[in-house]
Amino acid sequence: MTTIKSIQIVDLQSQYQRLKSEVDPAVQEVMTDGNFINGKQVSQFAEELSSYTGSRFTIPCANGTDALQLAYMALDLKQGDEIIIPAFNYVAAAEAACLLGLTVVFTDVDPVSFNIDPATIESKITPATKAVVAVHLFGQGCDLEAISSICEKHNLFLIEDNAQAIGAEMIQGKFAGKKLGTIGHIGTTSFFPSKNLGCMGDGGALFCQDEELTARIKMMANHGQKVKYHYDYVGINSRLDTIQAAILRVKLEHLDEFTKARQKAASSYTRILKEKKGITPPAISPFSTHVFHQYTILFESNETRNRVKSQLQEAGIQSMIYYPSSLHLQKAYAGTNLPTGSFPVSESLCERVLSLPMHSEMTEEIVEFICSKIDLSEIVR
Ligand SMILES: Cc1ncc(COP(=O)(O)O)c(C=O)c1O
Repeated sequence: MTTIKSIQIVDLQSQYQRLKSEVDPAVQEVMTDGNFINGKQVSQFAEELSSYTGSRFTIPCANGTDALQLAYMALDLKQGDEIIIPAFNYVAAAEAACLLGLTVVFTDVDPVSFNIDPATIESKITPATKAVVAVHLFGQGCDLEAISSICEKHNLFLIEDNAQAIGAEMIQGKFAGKKLGTIGHIGTTSFFPSKNLGCMGDGGALFCQDEELTARIKMMANHGQKVKYHYDYVGINSRLDTIQAAILRVKLEHLDEFTKARQKAASSYTRILKEKKGITPPAISPFSTHVFHQYTILFESNETRNRVKSQLQEAGIQSMIYYPSSLHLQKAYAGTNLPTGSFPVSESLCERVLSLPMHSEMTEEIVEFICSKIDLSEIVR
């Protein structure tokens, strides 16, 4: 048995070593060509990602936060328009909305899947509501059938934030077989290095099935211009670097294999952890496959969660709390005037979740080692 010294939540170095013989020549080619902006690899990658996801169009951009901002801009969301966003979430969807002057309307999540709860959406809809952001958290899909029918009924745009679930697909209902990110009016994703499909810097993309809307997204990402120096809209500059596209082309070839490794590690974790009283392993959604961007467990109390986090830290194992505070309680979003208790599920999850190491290079040995350091015997009786 090899000695395990310290374990990070993601292991990008080992993945790079394994793919070095493919990544290095791809990067070298860009260096030699010198087309660092909009080189051929960018459009090649966009096409390859379209054929992987089944999306009609893929528009690369600089990062996943820009992708959300571009989605709002292309859908012509304006100051005062309301947008419904889950409170248990990464900040990007709310942040981009606020920057454009949209009114963020937070809503609660489902206690089992941690995804936006469709049952809470309808009560948030007002005449000013224009869109819903369905964030496919931790690697599995929201109940898109329910959410899309609410959106259709109220004439709202559906934006899928698929930064954490690239490669996952719907397995139930009318969207069965479709990849997440390709179902809403616009889907967005991030290629942040630790994402399931990560580059070696920043990157992002949008997915769209409509030609006209795609043209608007492209213009918005390019200073609002179609013809150089002729600006039809106020846009932004958001591009995927050629070097990152070249790296992503290599990694896309391996995405399914990365996903399988994550799923295998997740089932080993669950097999061991379900025997430990006081821990709830992640539930698998009935709506989609799970690509385990995160392996997030739930404890009965904040005290137990924090104790286990310390146990892991003492053993040299990194774990993370995604997310430590519900967005409505964060200082920057206090303007929504929602007191503690507004979103009981989201608030309770923040107290009790813990994400364990999860990446494409996980082995059975690593999973067993991590689980062996979790000792609830003195805490849970
Ligand atoms: C759900 C979600 N949305 C959006 C983003 C933003 O992506 P980026 O960091 O590329 O801007 C992230 C990144 O962590 C995310 O997890």
